[in-house]
Amino acid sequence: MSSLLEGKVALVTGAGHGIGRAHALELASHGATVVVNDLGSSVSGEGSGRDADEVVGIIAARGGKAIADYGDVGDEEQVEAMVAKAFDQFGHLDVVVNNAGIVRDRAVWNMSVQDFDLVMRVHVRGTWLASRAAAKRWRAIAKSDGGSVYGRIINTTSGAGLLGHFGQSNYGAAKAAIVGLTQTLSLELASIGVTVNAISPGGITRLSGTISGAEQVPEADERPEGEFDPKDPSLASPVVAWLASHEAAHVSGQVIRAMGEELSLMQGWTKRVTTTSGGKRWDATKLGAVMATDIFQTRAPGLRLGS
Ligand SMILES: NC(=O)c1ccc[n+]([C@@H]2O[C@H](COP(=O)([O-])OP(=O)(O)OC[C@H]3O[C@@H](n4cnc5c(N)ncnc54)[C@H](O)[C@@H]3O)[C@@H](O)[C@H]2O)c1
Repeated sequence: MSSLLEGKVALVTGAGHGIGRAHALELASHGATVVVNDLGSSVSGEGSGRDADEVVGIIAARGGKAIADYGDVGDEEQVEAMVAKAFDQFGHLDVVVNNAGIVRDRAVWNMSVQDFDLVMRVHVRGTWLASRAAAKRWRAIAKSDGGSVYGRIINTTSGAGLLGHFGQSNYGAAKAAIVGLTQTLSLELASIGVTVNAISPGGITRLSGTISGAEQVPEADERPEGEFDPKDPSLASPVVAWLASHEAAHVSGQVIRAMGEELSLMQGWTKRVTTTSGGKRWDATKLGAVMATDIFQTRAPGLRLGS
């Protein structure tokens, strides 16, 4: 067991399966005490269960410390309670990994308002609620101590949010919103020493299996050991552990994509090309030429295809 996160307490949402489960096991392997949250719902957000228990059991069997939480990240009271649980039982909370997620994929013409709302609720509202609950506590501590606190928020975006993905207008919008949330929270929380970053992970899980059609998906820790598997959903977990550590105190507002063997810094929405009107309003009837020559620098910019 490494001591990278010795003495730290981490909350990982949606840690009963897949990527979150791998994060929880990784954080515990570096000495963190983990609040393993999971609603135990299906991939599309139905039902509930005690899926967090198995992960708590694995951490305990490996000599680590963890407790389960079965709350829904979209529910304000339940989120306040999961954060309170960390403070009540361990005296502090240092790391929040917002990972819980569902998908309800359909082309936009077939997507119901319920499919849109539930995906936004789990991803965007869930990430915001857990971040807010921790931020309120951290701010109060920083104020009474007259300084800063140890605080790390690590959010989860996706290629669908960064680049777009057919059939995921709800999920892509939610995952893009998480990037905006990450950047805004990184500014707000910098004054109390809290960093806020996002990862864009990958790997075959029961969630991504719904897209690829894979039926039985083994959890990351059930895969054969030793061989490098580019679809292993635990490949982003070391990045989460590092971002959670003292070593990453200077890193905030960043989006890091960890897919297979690649680690990439993602940056978007910088001004690529700018032209000016010369101090007057644009004339829509003349904009076609300006767009083709100055902005797109081609008559056919084409679709921006995703990853
Ligand atoms: N698998 C991929 O390729 C991939 C790629 C990019 C991003 N992601 C993101 O990674 C995260 C984890 O996805 P995964 O692939 O491991 O899926 P998964 O289905 O294996 O795990 C998601 C977990 O979240 C839990 N959950 C769902 N709704 C919840 C709620 N309201 N409150 C608490 N827990 C809830 C589920 O019970 C489940 O255990 C998601 O945010 C997903 O969008 C996954």
